[in-house]
Amino acid sequence: MQQTILAIESSCDETAVSILKCVKDTQGNINSITILAHEVESQIESHAPFGGVVPELAARDHLSKIYDITNSALIKAEISQKELTAVAVTMGPGLIGALMVGVLYARGLALSLNIPLISVNHVDAHLAPALLLNEFSPQHDLGVCKNVSQIQYPALALTVSGGHCHLSILSSATSKSLLGKSLDDACGEAFDKVAKLLGLGYPGGPLIENLAKSAEEFGNTEEFKFPSKPANRENKYHFTYSGLKTAVMECIRKATGIKKGKITGKDLPKEKKQSIAYAFQQAALMQLHDRVHNAIIDYPDIKTILVAGGVAQNKKFRELFSSFDKKIIFAPPALCSDNATMIALQAVLSENSKGFTDHPFAKYN
Ligand code: KG4
Ligand code: ZN
Repeated sequence: MQQTILAIESSCDETAVSILKCVKDTQGNINSITILAHEVESQIESHAPFGGVVPELAARDHLSKIYDITNSALIKAEISQKELTAVAVTMGPGLIGALMVGVLYARGLALSLNIPLISVNHVDAHLAPALLLNEFSPQHDLGVCKNVSQIQYPALALTVSGGHCHLSILSSATSKSLLGKSLDDACGEAFDKVAKLLGLGYPGGPLIENLAKSAEEFGNTEEFKFPSKPANRENKYHFTYSGLKTAVMECIRKATGIKKGKITGKDLPKEKKQSIAYAFQQAALMQLHDRVHNAIIDYPDIKTILVAGGVAQNKKFRELFSSFDKKIIFAPPALCSDNATMIALQAVLSENSKGFTDHPFAKYN
């Protein structure tokens, strides 16, 4: 059986459309997956002046781009709409106005073509590239049939993005139980907020990573230390970053001497900023490491660790996690940040587990 799925992602600040072909055997096992188109249009420039995503701007931007991006995906894939067998779309979680643009567009497309609409959970979808594709780079891999990853279960899965941290145990690609999640700010959000406090810009993750790297090059790694492990053992699988963010804020307050009002470390000497970025990144990543370490101790039969989400692009993160004595699979860097290929892959997985019975429109009427 062959499926050609067009997927749409619009939950935050990326408008993305991908087209994927999947061939399955008669038992429903995936034989091959081919990415025919992978279009991602980021809104970073619109949101950067505000130091974070502005929901109203995001929705308007999606609306102005979604038609053109869908068309350009179809042109890249060299197929006509009539060849599509399903449309997949991010249903949530995300910014409501932004989601509505993608969902309504996808629904209209599916309705006009009389094909199923597959609704996808965005956080689940982040993991799909790690589950299905070992390697992917948009420049080289379009149109190339990939070998589907062979994963040994049970697997421990960590998804770390701007909105969520999830730690789960998987007994198969489609059977997942949640161990821990964000209790307050997510990890990526903390990177963004600390970058804003240091006056670096948006998105903060790569900017903090670069600054922390310079701190190592120039030996500015010892001046500060922030706590990485919340003491409460009840929370041994959960994630909390609001305390770390406050600790960084207090550190900047002290370093700048700003006693009241808005704190900004923008004018701090570059060495100080490097030291703060380094200490923050260490603490942020060590918390992730600690949660995974706890899970491995408690569930010794875990065979594989899967890591995905925007923060998983961080090289220090990848380095730190490579020290675990387990097979570790990271989502390909090009599929860590929001994109629609992960939505299409998740559609393939969910369709696999539940059967292709989802009535296209019942859910939304
Ligand atoms: O998964 P994603 O694209 O969007 C959400 O679903 O939230 O993740 C975006 C987050 C942002 O907070 C961004 O700062 C963070 O991922 N990020 C990074 C890096 N690259 C992106 N965080 C740390 N280091 C990076 N290199
Ligand atoms: Zn995401």
